[in-house]
Amino acid sequence: MTTPIPPHLFAPPLAAMAGLQFRLAELADFRPLHETCYADKRAPWFWDHFEQMMVWQGNGRACWLLIEHNGRLVGSGELIIYPHGAELANLFVVPPYRRRGIGTALIIVLSRIARHWQLTDLEIGVENQNERALSLYRRLGFTDDREIRLPGGGTAVVLHKTL
Ligand SMILES: CC(C)(COP(=O)(O)OP(=O)(O)OC[C@H]1O[C@@H](n2cnc3c(N)ncnc32)[C@H](O)[C@@H]1OP(=O)(O)O)[C@@H](O)C(=O)NCCC(=O)NCCS
Repeated sequence: MTTPIPPHLFAPPLAAMAGLQFRLAELADFRPLHETCYADKRAPWFWDHFEQMMVWQGNGRACWLLIEHNGRLVGSGELIIYPHGAELANLFVVPPYRRRGIGTALIIVLSRIARHWQLTDLEIGVENQNERALSLYRRLGFTDDREIRLPGGGTAVVLHKTL
């Protein structure tokens, strides 16, 4: 069980584009979140994951952050605490908003929350061929830790950062 997140931790980093806002996801966000960010995931699977995450968010072992630009949903990402460590997951920025620093801002805000929860280590997994995400994480101080095989074939790199 972690402590509540104080509102100032949701403030966008100073360098972020104007009009960005970060907030926690709520149950009512399910449909727009699925349609806007995760339409490639089957709705029943996504609902199970979302519902689980809302329970964990209520228990303080996870947070699901939404990014809005002038009130419009433009991205999202998760911080999940497991018994063996903590992970950033499902980072997503809608295509027209990419390469404008929003992914960077998302990782900065999620990392702030992780520090507030006194987590000392963060991991993030990314498929080997996702060069854009890989270079972003490395630029933000994550280093390659290990390679894992994915259930559907292919491999992913797990990167690690000490906070
Ligand atoms: C990965 C992802 C979240 C990154 O989001 P993003 O908003 O594009 O991230 P940023 O803009 O902060 O950084 C991306 C690149 O744009 C560059 N950039 C940032 N602001 C910029 C600007 N104003 N002008 C030009 N380039 C800029 C960054 O330097 C960075 O370059 P790098 O890849 O060489 O480090 C996004 O590409 C995405 O949603 N991809 C699909 C889903 C996905 O793959 N998720 C990751 C799963 S692990």
